[in-house]
Amino acid sequence: MVKYIGVNDRKIDLFEGQFVVPEGISYNSYLILDEKIAIMDTVDIHFKDEFLAKLKDALEGRMPDYLVVDHMEPDHSASIKALVEEYPNIEVIGNQATFKMIHQFFPGFTFKQKLVKEGDVVSLGKHSLKFVFAPMVHWPEVMMSYDAYDECLYSADAFGKFGALDFDDPEGWACEARRYYFGIVGKFGVPVQNLLKKLAGTPLKVIRPLHGPVLDSNLDYYIHLYDIWSKYEPEADAVTICYTSVYGNTKEAAELLASNLTKEYDIFDLARDDFHEAIEGAFENKYLVLATTTYCSDIFPKMLDFLHALKERGYQNRTIAIIENGSWSPQVKKLILEFITLNFKNIVLIPRTVTIRSALTEENRQEIVELAKELNK
Ligand code: FEO
Repeated sequence: MVKYIGVNDRKIDLFEGQFVVPEGISYNSYLILDEKIAIMDTVDIHFKDEFLAKLKDALEGRMPDYLVVDHMEPDHSASIKALVEEYPNIEVIGNQATFKMIHQFFPGFTFKQKLVKEGDVVSLGKHSLKFVFAPMVHWPEVMMSYDAYDECLYSADAFGKFGALDFDDPEGWACEARRYYFGIVGKFGVPVQNLLKKLAGTPLKVIRPLHGPVLDSNLDYYIHLYDIWSKYEPEADAVTICYTSVYGNTKEAAELLASNLTKEYDIFDLARDDFHEAIEGAFENKYLVLATTTYCSDIFPKMLDFLHALKERGYQNRTIAIIENGSWSPQVKKLILEFITLNFKNIVLIPRTVTIRSALTEENRQEIVELAKELNK
C-alpha cells in the first residue's frame, strides 16, 4: 500500500527564491507500506512538524525501515535530520553524491547509510525499488526509484508542476508544468533525454513526482511533452512576442503586430509580466518576436536579462524577428543579432526588421503589418 504524506505550501512567496507560485506548491512524499516500510523523500523545513505528524498517523504504530533520498534540494531534503532523529534506526538510502550532500547540508550529522548504485534493487516485500540514476534532472545526485510491483516511477523533480494539490488547475497540467520545466530543468535537456531513453520499454502505470499531482493515466501524453521540451522543439505553430517599452511606443508596436496576427500568440511585457511565463512562452512557440530599445548603448536591461535566461536554458530551433526602437542611435537590433549568433543554435532570422525612431511612423506601421504577414505564413 502507498500513502501520500506530502504537504501543500500556500505560504511561500517565491519558490526557489525566484518563481512566483500564486497557487502554491506541493512537496510530495510517499510512504510504501509492505513487509518493510520505505519513506520516499521528505519536505521543506517549514512543514517538518506537519509532515512528521502525517507520517506517524500513516505508520499506524509501525516503524519505518528506509528513507529513500531521491533528491537533495532542500525543498525535499530539509526534514531528513528531524525524521532520522524521530526514527533513529531508519536506514537512509542514497548514492555517493547523495551522502556527500547530506553531509554538506547537515554538518556533523550521523545516521545509518545504505549506499546504492545504478540498477540496485531493494526489496520491501511485494514492492521493490530499483534505482535509476538521473544526474542533472535537476541536480547531480538525483536518482529515481522504480517499483515494479505497481509499475510506478518515483520521478523526483521530473514531471513536477507548480500549484498546491488543493488547487484544481483550470488550465490543466501542461501550462504550469511547462513553466516549471523551462524555469527549473530547462537547461538540462540532454540529461532528460538520457533519462527518457533509459526508461523506454519500462512498464509504467503511475508517476509520483515530488511536486504536483500523481500521474496515473494517459502517461504517454506527459512523456511526449517531456520529450518535446527536452529536445528543444516548439510545441505550437504560434508566436510569442516579448517587449520592453520605456514610454509606450515599443509597446504600441508590439500590440499592433499582435493585432495583425492570424496565428495564436502570447504577448509579454518583460518588465511587468511574469518573467518565467515569458521564458515558457519563448520555448512553447515556434516564433519569437523581440521588441525593445537601445539603452545606455546596450540592450534594454529587462530584454538583456531575458536573452541571458534563454541562453542559460539552451534556446534553439526557433524563428526570431526583431523590432527595435532608439531615439538617436538605435543599435539594439545589431546587438541582439550578435547575441543570437553567439549564444543560440539553429535560429532562423526573419530578414524584415522594424526600426522605430521614438514614435511609430506610418511607414513603421506598414512594416509591422508586413512582418505580421510573414509570421502568419
Ligand atoms: Fe523540487 Fe530540485 O527540487
